[in-house]
Amino acid sequence: MITALTLQELDVENVVLRGVIDLVVFRIFRFDPARNDAPTFQTYDLPDTAGMTILDALIHIKENMDSTLSFRRSCRSAICGSCAICANGKNLLACNTQVNDLKKVRITLEPLPGFPMMRDLVVDWEPFFDQYRSVKPYMVARSTPPEKERIQDQKTRKAYDEAAQCIMCSACTSSCPVVWTDGNYLGPAALTKAWRFVADDRDEITRERLAMVNNEEGVWRCHTIFRCTDSCPKKIDTAGSIESLRKKIIWHQLTGRI
Ligand code: SF4
Ligand code: FES
Repeated sequence: MITALTLQELDVENVVLRGVIDLVVFRIFRFDPARNDAPTFQTYDLPDTAGMTILDALIHIKENMDSTLSFRRSCRSAICGSCAICANGKNLLACNTQVNDLKKVRITLEPLPGFPMMRDLVVDWEPFFDQYRSVKPYMVARSTPPEKERIQDQKTRKAYDEAAQCIMCSACTSSCPVVWTDGNYLGPAALTKAWRFVADDRDEITRERLAMVNNEEGVWRCHTIFRCTDSCPKKIDTAGSIESLRKKIIWHQLTGRI
């Protein structure tokens, strides 16, 4: 009989055995600062993962195998962003990823890198949301409102269509090596949010917004590595948003126009 232990002994990390062995070994990061001096990994074997998302697997483990396991989740519909984790080294949404699509017999689950650890798969998001709040993530229109709505043409709306899909899961910011080494860098999620309002012609503080990101901890800190774009579960080109902000800043400085 082939067991999870045998699989580990065989070191078949990259071997696809689906159809031969219906078993997935989850290797999950565990750390409780109140009890542990250092993190460890704990394994859980799930015999039947067909149709299961990673979040389903985590819920199954918590409900049936180990109630002490901690992780975040809410909507289970790829909308709230709370279930973002790192699976086999890639940031993703646990509720939006089928276990079997990873095509691995061993799946390592870790908290999002780059953020302070709280417990198991839960990280402290305060630094992330501090950066988000710092770019004024809301429309500011100080002029007298028209009688009806503020009209916007389709072309302008399209310019920030992608950026408006952001669910603030932090997968992009967490995957950025610059964020790992510089806690003051605004990061791709906050900068994408800044672009979303710079591109919106109903917003009336464009100059102020450009000044917010035109500094060494803003758009110029980005090294254009593209890990942020690669990790976005909503397929938002976050690196492209940063590039658009740079172009807008240069245009503004050359012409004085916005
Ligand atoms: S841009 Fe994508 S990865 Fe980044 S926070 Fe928004 S949805 Fe998540
Ligand atoms: S639980 Fe809300 S995005 Fe996954």
